[in-house]
Amino acid sequence: MTTALDKVDSLEELAEIASACTACRLSATRTNVVFASGTKDAQVMVVGEGPGQQEDEQGLPFVGRSGRLLIELLSEVGITREDVYIANVVKCRPPQNRDPRQDEIEMCKPFLRRQIELVDPVVVITLGNFSSKLLMQTTTGITRLRGKAYEWWGRYLVPTFHPAAALRGGERVKNDIRADIAIVRSLLEGRIIHDSEEAPNLANSVELIPVASEEQLGLFGTVSS
Ligand code: URA
Repeated sequence: MTTALDKVDSLEELAEIASACTACRLSATRTNVVFASGTKDAQVMVVGEGPGQQEDEQGLPFVGRSGRLLIELLSEVGITREDVYIANVVKCRPPQNRDPRQDEIEMCKPFLRRQIELVDPVVVITLGNFSSKLLMQTTTGITRLRGKAYEWWGRYLVPTFHPAAALRGGERVKNDIRADIAIVRSLLEGRIIHDSEEAPNLANSVELIPVASEEQLGLFGTVSS
């Protein structure tokens, strides 16, 4: 499941390939492959960790409690479920909602990479440690990564806490996610500072932090052929 997916040129075809995937052990215990929701025209793409029980049953991402909170927080700045393309790092539910393992992430990564290329969103929001560390190719944790916007592969990346952390952690975590979603809104509205010394007064503006360039690594770690 590596370079062949780079040649697939529609999300529908990619979803069909994913629906038959048996590349890792998660295929043995899944009910449905949870490929994504949303349209290829989305300006915002959200990347979670992996399906939970309800997602596995329905074949759709973020339809459980975490998902409802995510959609509620996005809707506070006028972004609806229909506006976003939602996918996960792994497309099949890890049993008992355990963390996805490194080999499972590696096997599933080409699907996510191609989804990002085909959707071509303006902003990617990564939720929690797994997607943030994978896409940013870092070992730095989400607590230190969040609160900022990154320039990433010709688009913007905004890492934030996973909504499940807000369900456990309460208002403080929720407010941090709100602040990060406000960054997304600002990016969509073009309130961007490319050089903080030149434009210090733009209201609600976002200063961008560059992430490793194309020359240094392929799109999250794999150089595609
Ligand atoms: N948590 C995730 O990371 N993804 C989902 O789809 C649901 C819950």
